[in-house]
Amino acid sequence: MKPGNEISREAAAASPLHMIDLIRKKRSGGELEAHEIELIARGAADGSIPSDQLAAWLMAAWIRGLSRDETRALTLAMRDSGVKFSSARLGRKAVDKHSTGGVGDKTSFLVAPLAAACGVAVPMLSGRALGHTGGTLDKLESIPGYRTALTLDEFEKVLAKCGASIMGQTDELAPADRKLYALRDRTGTVENPGLICASILSKKLAAGLDGLVLDVKTGSGAFLRRRSDCEYLASLMVSTAEAAGTRTVALLTDMSQPLGRAAGNWIELVECVELLRGERPEYSADVRELSLILAGWMIHLGGEAASAEAGRKRAEQALENGSATRVFMAMVEAQGGDLSVFDEPEKFHRPGATAVVEAWTSGFVAKMDTTALGWAVQRSGAGREIAGEPVDPHAGILFHARRGARIERGQPLATIYATTAEMLAEPEEILKRAIQISETAPRAVPLVGRVIARETAEMQLSSQ
Ligand code: URA
Repeated sequence: MKPGNEISREAAAASPLHMIDLIRKKRSGGELEAHEIELIARGAADGSIPSDQLAAWLMAAWIRGLSRDETRALTLAMRDSGVKFSSARLGRKAVDKHSTGGVGDKTSFLVAPLAAACGVAVPMLSGRALGHTGGTLDKLESIPGYRTALTLDEFEKVLAKCGASIMGQTDELAPADRKLYALRDRTGTVENPGLICASILSKKLAAGLDGLVLDVKTGSGAFLRRRSDCEYLASLMVSTAEAAGTRTVALLTDMSQPLGRAAGNWIELVECVELLRGERPEYSADVRELSLILAGWMIHLGGEAASAEAGRKRAEQALENGSATRVFMAMVEAQGGDLSVFDEPEKFHRPGATAVVEAWTSGFVAKMDTTALGWAVQRSGAGREIAGEPVDPHAGILFHARRGARIERGQPLATIYATTAEMLAEPEEILKRAIQISETAPRAVPLVGRVIARETAEMQLSSQ
């Protein structure tokens, strides 16, 4: 018997389960059976297990860790804790992309229409800004009228009409995660690979996906800092989702600087719409490239291209022939958004106050603390520190110099758009500390590092 497994399989199956026993078992280093984990997920969803017991179990799981079997059982139990969306009636394979979050990460607005324009359905459930990372829903809500709270029927109608829909998590999908994630946030139990994996995948799998592309960020703005942790999490998610029947691949991508030029709400959409309209601004080259690569994988996993490379070529055509723009605009319109704001996007941008941060010395942009830059964006008014706080659609930061760029003293490094003039000082101060200018150029970091598919994931996990 494994340590802590005082309750035998037979006894557990025969006698009623009590949460206190499951807390003790995990606390002592035992491994929970699938039916025990199902009890926890069900109890979290229907409120029958009190929050203090759930929080105690989460802390035990955080400290002791979850085995791969426990992680898989928790993922499936949380997926099954509520209603599930079925993409069967759409007549296309359903594929989504999930990012572990970053600064200026706006690829959703490109990959969803790109993949949809190439024949894949993209039922995308997204989140809100919290702390140093931005939120897709907040960015979309800067379009007047855009509804992120659709019913599942409305979601399906938009998908049938446009091929893509981006909305928020509903109360009905994976309710166990809603309860457990809120508790983890309050009890310091977020950063655990098994819990993160189950939380992210339960929501994605409840959306009825055939394929999933995971964008796992690495570098100074990443959720997990150590590269080995990122690789482990990516492998765990790929292996768990594949075992649940969803074709999945993870890409480790660079977040050692903000992605593209804009970090905020409306200004990120403007950057994407420029790209969708075929413009090729140098500063947005990384957003374009990463979006094409991610969309290529989505199109491949959705069965519309023989390889990710062939999928990328199809995505590039969809960008160039305008079909992706048409999908994006149709989706915005179908979800109530006012398309006229895209006629002259700069005119719609009305920040409360603006300041330009200039280079204080000449040299190379050597290092960016992207997490700190994310906090600067949040302090401008574009993000929130506590769930539920409002955000300013017009706030954010435009970056004018990328990592490795040679700059002269007095050259603009960034433009801050804040809600009020009083809110300019803090982001300005953070920017000055977060950007390092030095005499030597830094080593270039590839935009996409490792690609982890099923076989690589299994090898990585078995070598741990
Ligand atoms: N995002 C989620 O949805 N869950 C986690 O646990 C971490 C990030």
